[in-house]
Amino acid sequence: MPARAWFPTYIYSEPLQASGLARFNAELADECRKLRDFDAAGRRWSAGNYPGGYTSYASMNELHHFSSTFAALEKRLTRHMRAFARTLELDLRGRTVRMSDCWVNIMPENAAHSLHLHPLSFISGTYYVVTPKGCPGLKFEDPRLSKFMAAPPRRPDARPASRPHVTYAAEAGRVILFESWLRHEVAANRAAEERISISFNYHWA
Ligand code: NI
Repeated sequence: MPARAWFPTYIYSEPLQASGLARFNAELADECRKLRDFDAAGRRWSAGNYPGGYTSYASMNELHHFSSTFAALEKRLTRHMRAFARTLELDLRGRTVRMSDCWVNIMPENAAHSLHLHPLSFISGTYYVVTPKGCPGLKFEDPRLSKFMAAPPRRPDARPASRPHVTYAAEAGRVILFESWLRHEVAANRAAEERISISFNYHWA
């Protein structure tokens, strides 16, 4: 074929571990809900910045340093992060790579999270803890969308990789990793139950 694809954008998705997910997620869910009850500053911040939901993004965002359950999650996530970094062919020899932020997101019915990216990090991701049937997935945008200018739209039958958006279903026990500059959003939760996820960033130095 004369035309070849360049500059790939990778998204990583794997189960956190092979077994024991239900028990680990039950522990995490319990801690996430207790955190919401305890974190008055976070609830206040969420009221203005995360309508209808709760996030500890601005208040309790280093949970891996405060809770042994979250520290265990960090250890498991870091294995996935290293596998993803190998796929990206990043040269991390002699570098220190660490989780810089780790926070909770609870989205009851109708809560949404608009388009954003994760500054001050190189790999970011989400881990799903509670995902009621029908809850929204994670929708990614083609990073070149702002540069398309006069490009015609893609055909409706275009290959998934050629389309301007891709949505990964939210599935409890699954890790999703992406490069931090890749914009993403979560549509409004149409399920009656709350959706719980844990987001995190990795930093290198
Ligand atoms: Ni995000």
